[in-house]
Amino acid sequence: MRAVLLHLHPRKVNEASLDFNRSFGLGGMAALLVVLQLLTGILLRFYYDPFPAEAYNSILFLKNQVIFGQFIRNIHYWSGVFLLLIAFLHFLRVFFTGAYRDLRKTNWLFGLVLLLLIVFLNFTGYLLPWDQLAYWAVTVSTNIIGYLPLVGESLRTTIIRGNELNANTLQSFYSFHTAVLPMLLVILVVYHFWKVRKAGGLLVPPSKEEPVMVPVVPNLVFKEFIVALVLLAVIFSFGALFNAPLLEKANPTYSLNPTKAPWYFAGVQELLMHFHPFVAAFILPACVVCFLAALPYLKYEEEPNGVWFISESGKRSSISTAKFAALLTIFGILLNEYLLDLEILLQPLPGFVSNGIVPLLLLLLAMAGFYHFFLKKQSLTKSELVQAIFVFIMTCFVVLTLTGIFFRGKDMELSLPWNVMML
Ligand code: HEM
Repeated sequence: MRAVLLHLHPRKVNEASLDFNRSFGLGGMAALLVVLQLLTGILLRFYYDPFPAEAYNSILFLKNQVIFGQFIRNIHYWSGVFLLLIAFLHFLRVFFTGAYRDLRKTNWLFGLVLLLLIVFLNFTGYLLPWDQLAYWAVTVSTNIIGYLPLVGESLRTTIIRGNELNANTLQSFYSFHTAVLPMLLVILVVYHFWKVRKAGGLLVPPSKEEPVMVPVVPNLVFKEFIVALVLLAVIFSFGALFNAPLLEKANPTYSLNPTKAPWYFAGVQELLMHFHPFVAAFILPACVVCFLAALPYLKYEEEPNGVWFISESGKRSSISTAKFAALLTIFGILLNEYLLDLEILLQPLPGFVSNGIVPLLLLLLAMAGFYHFFLKKQSLTKSELVQAIFVFIMTCFVVLTLTGIFFRGKDMELSLPWNVMML
């Protein structure tokens, strides 16, 4: 136990690693949210019945009859949402400070697995209330799996254990959400902490001077305490002010309009509206995952790690790339929505070519043009170039996600956010 505690917190840490701007305490925040999820999840489990006939009523009972039932449900819901957002921000900070290489390679890979686990924890939990929102959001998301080549349909029916969502799906999702995934998450988080220590703590920029080691108590613990208090205040305020969503009981014969995937899959759902499903649901996500996993294994020049954005030119090119990617994504969405339907325009060609290969080539052409006319002139190093590609992907992903959440209204048509919110 002593060894575990010392791995969480050694007696002394490098004073340079205490600078708040280095990590913004995001990893610690994620850890606190995991604990909050587990505690509130255990409480919810006392009342929840994982059967379609009872699940919805058990949530209503919890909401209306159990003292603090609604509040605990809200905290569980909001800490899940914040965990995903904060883990994503932590992933960005690790990338932009170059803390994914050398000694931290494996931890980066396990971090990616953690991020996926958090997505699946959120997703499996989404179905449990068995209301209209849950039922149809999970239906469209699992339909996306059906688009995968060859194995798609059998994978979809295996995951939902039938042709459509049913009592077995709820049982499976419940077991994954309350047992398998939380257990894996806890094991991986402990391993993740251990690897941070093994790498010598947080990455700090190289310095000619000897590192100054200071005691963890009070130097680090005091800062962590303040961050934890602020985070708890935010989550509890959200829990008190905004209820976790609950619509009417699931009705498999009447779908919602629009039928949207949960917000973290809104980007993929938006992609599906513009690309052939094979490209949107398989090729593009697979390329992104391979790129992220390969990042630590590329050969880079000797550069100071632990510094935000590597250099001034790295920062400038990242900002320009983000602007370019945002404009390109918005332009592409509007063009495809109102002016140019490649599938109709190139009609004799099969859908996979007209709506898959052709827009993919156009995207690569736009990226190559941006590289040739702008990035090449900046004489970037290899890491700065990799950083620009990363920024491009993340910006497209964020813009697609925001479009799916805030700009898709009735019949999934583009609409203004206030009209979408009123639905
Ligand atoms: C439940 C989710 C996670 C928890 C609880 C967590 C926790 C932590 C903590 C406490 C630290 C050290 C301090 C800090 O950076 O704030 C850390 C560092 C690190 N994390 Fe995470 N993390 C999570 C997810 C991720 C993800 C998604 C990635 C990336 C794909 C990642 C990669 C790393 C790496 C490479 C380090 C070392 C950074 C350095 O040395 O500067 N982690 N994590």
